[in-house]
Amino acid sequence: MAVIADRCLEVQVTVVDLNAERIAAWNDPDFSKLPVYEPGLDGVVARARGRNLHFSTAVDEAIGEADMVFISVNTPTKTRGLGAGQASDLKWVEASARSVARAARGHTIVVEKSTLPVRTAEVIQKILAAATPNGDGRSFSVLSNPEFLAEGTAIPDLEQPDRVLIGGEDPAAIAALAGVYGQWVPSDRILTTNLWSSELSKLTANAFLAQRISSINGIAAFCEATGADVREVAKAIGADSRIGPKFLQAGPGFGGSCFQKDILNLVYLCRHYGLEEVAAYWEQVVALNHWQQRRIARLVVTRLFGTVTGKRIGVLGFAFKADTNDTRESPAIRVCQDLLEEGAILQILDPKVPEGQITADLGQPAGTGEGSWQQVADVQQAASGADALLLLTEWQQFAGIDWPEVAAVMRQPAWLFDARARADGAAARAAGLNVWTVGEG
Ligand code: UDX
Repeated sequence: MAVIADRCLEVQVTVVDLNAERIAAWNDPDFSKLPVYEPGLDGVVARARGRNLHFSTAVDEAIGEADMVFISVNTPTKTRGLGAGQASDLKWVEASARSVARAARGHTIVVEKSTLPVRTAEVIQKILAAATPNGDGRSFSVLSNPEFLAEGTAIPDLEQPDRVLIGGEDPAAIAALAGVYGQWVPSDRILTTNLWSSELSKLTANAFLAQRISSINGIAAFCEATGADVREVAKAIGADSRIGPKFLQAGPGFGGSCFQKDILNLVYLCRHYGLEEVAAYWEQVVALNHWQQRRIARLVVTRLFGTVTGKRIGVLGFAFKADTNDTRESPAIRVCQDLLEEGAILQILDPKVPEGQITADLGQPAGTGEGSWQQVADVQQAASGADALLLLTEWQQFAGIDWPEVAAVMRQPAWLFDARARADGAAARAAGLNVWTVGEG
C-alpha cells in the first residue's frame, strides 16, 4: 500500500487495523521504529505518509469512503478443528468481509490481497450479497490480486514486479485495478485471469518455488555423500534455460510465512477434491524440508563426538532469511530446539531479531546452563568458549568474519557448520577450524 501511495499521487491510501498499538507504530515519527524491517520501506513511507498514505484505526469510516478495499489480513494454518495443521484459517478474511459488508457505501471493489485457498472469493461474495439483499443502492465486485513480493526485497519486487495478477469477472473492476498498477507497471506485465486461476496461481507459484529448494537440498545431501559439490551442480543445471539459475541455493531448509502454509493448504485442497496422489506429491516437499532441518542438528551433534550436552555453540542468524526481522517458520527454530533438547548452550546472534521473539519461538526465556540460550551482540561473543559456530541465516556480515580472531576464542577442536555456504570456508580452515558446508562433498 505504501508503494501504491508512492506511485499514485492521486490515490488516497488509508491502511486500517483494529490493533491501535500497531497503527501507532506505523505513525511513529521515528521511521526506524516501523513494525516491519524491510530495506527501503522507511524511505517510501517517509515520502507518502501524511500526504496520501494514512494509518488509522477508524475501520468503518475508511471502508465507507473507499472505492476499493484490499483485504490484507493473515490466513494462518488452522490449529484445531476441521483441516487442523493444513487448511488456512479464514476467520480474519471472513471478519473483514463482514466489516466491508457493514460499512461500504455505493459501489465498492473488494480486492483479495491475502493469500487464500482457491474459491475463497465465493465466500466473500456470499457475505457481501447477504448484506445487500435488495441492492439498497450498494454493490460489490470481488477481485483476486495475489502478492508475489519476497521479504527483504519487497520494495524492488513491488516497484519492478515480474507480473501483477488480477483475477475477476467484472471487466470494469479489473480495469480500475489495472489502472492503479498501470501508473508504474508496464501493461504487458499486468495479467488478467478468472478469479479461481488467480487464487490458485499464488499457491502454485509458492509450491513450485519451495519444491526447487527441497529438490536442491535433497541433492545437497547426495553431494555430501558422494564428493560432488552442490554449488557446481546448481551452476551446471541452472545454465539450462529451461531450469534457470535462481532458487537453487542449498540451505537449512526453507522458512517464512508462506511456503509451508501454502503447500499444506494445497495438499488439503487436493485431498478435498479426491486427488490423493497429487496431495502426497506436494506433501513430500514439506517432509523433505523438515528432514533437512533435523539433519543439520543431527550432524552437528555427530561431529561433536556424539554429544553437545553442556557445550557452547554459536548460532549465526535466526531470521528465516537475510534482510528481515521475520522468524516465522525459520529453520533456525527447529535446529536450535533440537540442540537445546540435546543440552547445548546456544549463543545466538542475529542483527535484527529481538530477544523477545527468540524467547517466543524457542518456547523458553534466555538462561544459563545445559539446554539454555543467550543472545549475543557480535560474532566474537557467539564464538567465545564455543566448540562450534553454526551459520543459519545468510547475513552479509557473516561473509567477512575474521577467522583467526574468532578461532582464538573457541575451544579446540572447533567447528564451523555453514548451512548457507555464506562464510569464507577456506579462511576458516586456514585458521584451524574444521569446516562443514552444506552440499560440499
Ligand atoms: C516467498 C516467495 O518468494 C514470494 O513470491 C511470496 O510472495 C512469499 O513467499 P519469502 O518467504 O519472503 O517469499 O522469501 P523467499 O526469498 O522466497 O525465501 C523463502 C525461504 O526459502 C527462505 O527461508 C530462504 O532462505 C529459502 N531459500 C530461498 C533457499 O533456501 N534457497 C533458495 O535458493 C531460495
